[in-house]
Amino acid sequence: MDSQEPKLAQNRKDDHVNHALEQQHQAIPSQFDGIRFIHHSLNSVDQHEIDLSTHWANHHHSLPFYINGMTGGSRFTKQFNEKLALVAAETGLSMATGSVSAALKDSSVADTFTVVREINPNGFIMANIGAHHGVDNAKRAVDLLNANALQIHLNIPQEVVMPEGDRDFSNWLTNIEQIVQNVGVPVIVKEVGFGMSQETIQHLIQAGVQTIDISGRGGTNFISIENNRRDRLDFSAISQWGQTTPESLLEALPYHQSTEILASGGIRHYTDIIKALALGAKATGISGLFLKKIHDDGPQATIDMVHDWAESLRLFYLLLGVTNLDELQALPLYLSPELCHWASIRNIDVSLLTKPK
Ligand code: FNR
Repeated sequence: MDSQEPKLAQNRKDDHVNHALEQQHQAIPSQFDGIRFIHHSLNSVDQHEIDLSTHWANHHHSLPFYINGMTGGSRFTKQFNEKLALVAAETGLSMATGSVSAALKDSSVADTFTVVREINPNGFIMANIGAHHGVDNAKRAVDLLNANALQIHLNIPQEVVMPEGDRDFSNWLTNIEQIVQNVGVPVIVKEVGFGMSQETIQHLIQAGVQTIDISGRGGTNFISIENNRRDRLDFSAISQWGQTTPESLLEALPYHQSTEILASGGIRHYTDIIKALALGAKATGISGLFLKKIHDDGPQATIDMVHDWAESLRLFYLLLGVTNLDELQALPLYLSPELCHWASIRNIDVSLLTKPK
């Protein structure tokens, strides 16, 4: 291993956080705005009946959103893991760390991840690795955090644009299949903001994956981040690569019987959470927004925001006349012409989503 490699990896982690924070300052239009609920003037719900909980990765989660994988691997990013773990411990949110690859290569940065378990001994914590790792490293990642589940990230566009990125993806699916069979905890395969296609989801299901985070375009953009880190070659022309989160949720529609779908990518607000849930997600992951909130306002304000969102979601369920996720997912939705066009070109039957029940 190049002796400079651990240092470079730590700088890369810091670059990612700094660029992701800058992106959060930009107002990005969202396809979630093209999804609407139908208002009804009567309903029969008493707010005391409302239950926001959800079940995925063999676990009952009290809230339908979670802190998605981001940080660890350097001193600077350890501070984010510490603060995010405080929020998770206080609110009961499930949480993933960023890729623990760095700690598997260099044990001197292990504490930048394990801090998450120290602060939150009883929480639902997901370790995170890339799909180039095999079963042994997957087990080491889980052991490091005493993790309840393992996220495996798929990030080909990021690797391609990253100057020092991987150039061989030929063993990823085989690695995933073997990890799922042998790692001993639930596996969640996730994108990193480029969304998923029906074809990808089918491959993952065939490999035995039971939980998939389609992590779509619309929020943190790793092509832009890696392009900013380059001295030569310009990839800005493909900065809009990939499927948006709503498009990816449409792509996932045919597979709800065979897999649990999670959604992340560009969640801006509790209204985006509820729309992602209504489109079929069991829960929604949030990264960039939590990163910015923790950075700008600290853990207590972030805890307050989580409580406010939970209360707002409960009131939104009341407004919609539903008491739980199953009832929410049975509601008919209005989809924008753009989303209907996507579904029609991709041969996806959206009538289950849009038909009055
Ligand atoms: C990420 N993301 C990420 N994902 C992953 O699986 N492993 C990782 O190590 C990282 N690292 C990382 C660093 C930073 C700073 C950010 C902001 C994000 C991707 C993340 O989990 C998520 O898929 C995308 O960021 C899209 O969600 P948001 O940010 O739009 O809510």
